[in-house]
Amino acid sequence: QELRLNLEQIEKGGYEHFMLKEIFEQSKSVLDTMRGRLLVDEGVIKMAGIWDHLERLTNAERIIIIACGTSWHAGLIGEYLIEEFARVPVEVEYASEFRYRNPIITSKDVVIAISQSGETADTMAAIKLAKEKGAFVYGICNVVDSSIARVTDAGSYTHAGPEIGVASTKAFTAQLTILSLIAIKLGNHNGNLGKADFMRLITELDAIPKKIEEVLNSVDSVVKDIASKFVNATNFLYLGRGYNFPTALEGALKLKEISYIHAEGYPAAEMKHGPIALIDENMPIVIIAPKIGHYDKIVSNVQEIKARKGKVIAIINKGDTQVASMADHIIEIPETSECFSPILASIPLQLLAYYIAVERGANVDQPRNLAKSVTVE
Ligand code: G6P
Repeated sequence: QELRLNLEQIEKGGYEHFMLKEIFEQSKSVLDTMRGRLLVDEGVIKMAGIWDHLERLTNAERIIIIACGTSWHAGLIGEYLIEEFARVPVEVEYASEFRYRNPIITSKDVVIAISQSGETADTMAAIKLAKEKGAFVYGICNVVDSSIARVTDAGSYTHAGPEIGVASTKAFTAQLTILSLIAIKLGNHNGNLGKADFMRLITELDAIPKKIEEVLNSVDSVVKDIASKFVNATNFLYLGRGYNFPTALEGALKLKEISYIHAEGYPAAEMKHGPIALIDENMPIVIIAPKIGHYDKIVSNVQEIKARKGKVIAIINKGDTQVASMADHIIEIPETSECFSPILASIPLQLLAYYIAVERGANVDQPRNLAKSVTVE
């Protein structure tokens, strides 16, 4: 028993929990996921899985992304990426819904299945159904040689390394990395992305690991301090727009999973269609507000929240003063293109959930009722 405990300590590499270790590994895990694939100097993205099936992928009439949990959130961001850069229509479905609703699917469809574990029963069943109907199935898995990796027609591994904490962190940012590479590669191949845009995007993506490091170094103690103020909250709202709407969903999921505080993610503009009724001085609202996309709209959302005395925790770009002057708490992240901003914005959200859960004395690595891979239906 003692030996086992010591081994676990070593595996945690000095961190108190696997989750914290995995959050801090993200600069490396994202870099590992790009390594050998993103070659900025040569101006190419090399991905064997894509290259071998390039025509099949670029001729797809539609791409359907299927996944569960955090992987489904990555899929939602994948939809924005692929539609923006490759201009192929994308649908994102929960594997559990897709498999039971007799979906319309043909041999002209490409299905992308995303799964950290590669063992999720619903995702597996959805893949089988898609294959029976003649779709080409591309897998994005983290666990090498997992069931899903073996059953798909082609795929790319996220090289995030083993993820032990039940709440997914580094696998998520690795999934976003792969999806970015796929979207940019397809857009470059099918002519929707010109050379200059392609070069700009890959150069920016290449800079992400360094920016992740910057985030980790600068926000940790800030987030810890903010977390200590919200330990007794009973509800949280997470808001974001565009690419960061799914980031808001993922932030809320992290908090629910490990701290057992009820949290909901919403597209910021939908606030007025319901959640605004919940806002009072006891409601913390995490708002993802980098200075990109529809920033001005986010500014008015923050004003609406403050008029109702909600507590605003804002994720903003360094140096932004407009949202900063209204928010109760700010967390600064470096600037990047909107399409890559979920990678950077997710990190403080993971840390926020982590520190709140730790302060509440929750079992962060093994939250109650949850499993790392759900192999039952
Ligand atoms: C479980 C895990 C989540 C994960 C989901 C999908 O619910 O606790 O962290 O996102 O399954 O898992 P997968 O391995 O398919 O990505």
